[in-house]
Amino acid sequence: MTIEHKRSSKAEIEDLIKARYSLIWITSPEEGRVEDSLRKLCIEREMRLEVWSITEGFKTVANGQGTRDVKDPMKAIDHVLRAEGRALFVLRDFHPFLKEPAVVRRLRDAATELRKTKKSLCILSAITKIPPELEKSISAVLDWDLPNRQEIEGAARKVLPNLPAATQQIIESDPTFMERVVEGALGLTLVEAENVFAKSAVRTHTFDLETILEEKKQIIRKSGLLEYYEHREEFSDVGGMEILKDWLVKRRSAFSARARDFGLPLPKGILLIGVPGTGKSLTAKAVGALWQMPLLRLDVGKIFGGLVGSSEENIRNVIKTAEAIAPAILWIDELEKGFSGTGSSGQTDGGTTSRVFASFITWLQEKTSPVFVIATANNVQQLPPELLRKGRFDEIFFCDLPNREDRRSIIDIHLRKKKRDPGQFDLDKIVEATTDYSGAELEQAVIASLYDAFDTGADLTTEGLLNTLRDIVPLAITMREQIEAMREWARTRARPAASRGPAPAKKEGWMARYGAPTANLGDKGPSADDGERKIEL
Ligand SMILES: Nc1ncnc2c1ncn2[C@@H]1O[C@H](COP(=O)(O)OP(=O)(O)O)[C@@H](O)[C@H]1O
Ligand SMILES: [Mg+2]
Repeated sequence: MTIEHKRSSKAEIEDLIKARYSLIWITSPEEGRVEDSLRKLCIEREMRLEVWSITEGFKTVANGQGTRDVKDPMKAIDHVLRAEGRALFVLRDFHPFLKEPAVVRRLRDAATELRKTKKSLCILSAITKIPPELEKSISAVLDWDLPNRQEIEGAARKVLPNLPAATQQIIESDPTFMERVVEGALGLTLVEAENVFAKSAVRTHTFDLETILEEKKQIIRKSGLLEYYEHREEFSDVGGMEILKDWLVKRRSAFSARARDFGLPLPKGILLIGVPGTGKSLTAKAVGALWQMPLLRLDVGKIFGGLVGSSEENIRNVIKTAEAIAPAILWIDELEKGFSGTGSSGQTDGGTTSRVFASFITWLQEKTSPVFVIATANNVQQLPPELLRKGRFDEIFFCDLPNREDRRSIIDIHLRKKKRDPGQFDLDKIVEATTDYSGAELEQAVIASLYDAFDTGADLTTEGLLNTLRDIVPLAITMREQIEAMREWARTRARPAASRGPAPAKKEGWMARYGAPTANLGDKGPSADDGERKIEL
C-alpha cells in the first residue's frame, strides 16, 4: 500500500527558519532523533548548530567545541544574542527555568532581537508547557512527528546483523518481509522500535510480527489513552445496517494509491449515532478486519480524566500516534462522554474541554493523513452542534432499532455463533415477537435461553427463546421518549444506516404482548445507556 505523506517535521522547521521564526518550541520525547534531523538540516543550510544543557552549557555540534561558562539559563540566552553568523540554537530541558520571571522576560526580549538576525532559538522538550506570558513570543510550536517507515527500517537494520545468517538471508530475499515488520512497529519512537526488534531477536531469533505487534500493543496501552485493538469481529458478524455496510465496503480500498490516482478523496470519518445496543461499536470493530487496517480505540474519558498528562497534550499525542501508524482507523467510542462539556457547562474547567475539542475538530476537518475516524454516540443531545456541521465527517449515520429483516439476520448470526442451526428454529415467530428489541437484546436473549436450556438438560428451542424474550423489557420501552427525539433529530440530519425504515417502538405494541414492564426494570430506564443490558439469570 502506498500512502501519501504529510510534510515531515524537518521540512516544516526548515520553512520556519527560512521565514525567520526566532523562537520555536519543539515537543518530542526523542531528543536524539530531533537533534539528528536538526544537524542534517544545519549542514544542508550551512548553519552552525549549538546545543545547550544545564550540565554542559553550549556545544557546537559540528566540532564538539563547547562554551561551558554559560550553564546558567540567563547566560545561555545572552550567549545566543551575542553569537555571530547563521546559527540554530537548541535549549534542552529548558521548561523548568521558565518558572523564573527573569528568564521569561529575557526570552521575550531575545525573541524580538533575534528576528533581526539569521539566528533561531529552539526549546526542545518532551512536553509542551509554555507560560502564558511567553505564548505570544513563541512564534511556533512544532510537535515533532514519530519515525517514518524509513527510520523504523533503519532501526530494524541495526538489529538485523544479530540474527542467524540463514534468517538474515530469508529476510533479505523476501522484499515484503521487511515491509511488514516495519509496518508492525510504526507508531513507536525510534528507541522503542529498536528495543522491540531486539526483543523479538532474542525471543524468536527472527523478526516475528506477532512478537512485535504484541510489544507495540503494550507500549501504546501504557500511554493510557489508546488501545491497539485486535480484530476479533468480522463484518459478517454485523446484522442489518445495509446502507452503512455498503458505504464501508465501497471504501475498502479507498486508502490505496490506486484510489488516489483515480481521483478519490481520502475518506475522513463517520459518526454513528443511535439507539444503544444496535451494533455501532460492533461495526466500528468490524471495519478493522474489513479494511485490513489497524484499529486504535481512543478512551475519550481519559483525555479529560486528568490522570494522564494535560488534556491538550493528550489529544496531540493521540493524533501523533494515529498518524504514525496510518493508514489506520481511530475509533472513538461514545464520543459524547468526552466532549459533552464544550457548551456553556464547559466553563467549569476553564475552557480546556472547548480548546481540546476545537483542536480535535480542526484536525478532523483538515487532516491529510490516512487516519479514518469512526466515532459512535448514544446521545445526540450531549454532542456539541459544531461537531455535527457539514464537512466534519463524511457521513452521519443513524442506527435505529432493527426491522424484521435485520432482526432475522441478527438472530441468525447469534444462533450460529452458539453453534446452533437457525434452520431448526421458527425464525418468523421469533422475529414477530421481537419488535422493539435491539441487537444487543437479541444476543442476550440467545445467551440467557442457552443457560436455561443447559440448566434443564434440554437444548435450545424456539419456545425457550420466546420464554426468555418475554422477561426482557427492551430498552426501547423505557427509553421511548429519548428514542423518538433522536429519530426526529436524525430525520433531517443523518442518513439511516438501514434501508427499510425504522421499526416502531410503540409501548402499546409491546405491552399488548407482555403487559406492563416490571417496576424495577423500568426504574433503570433512561440511565442504562451503555447498551449492555445485564440480565439476571
Ligand atoms: N446489528 C447487530 N448485528 C449483530 N449483533 C449485534 C448487532 N447489534 C448489536 N449486536 C450485539 O450486541 C452487542 C453490543 O452491541 P454494540 O455494538 O455494543 O451496540 P452499541 O455500540 O450500538 O450500543 C454486540 O457486540 C453484538 O454482539
Ligand atoms: Mg457502543
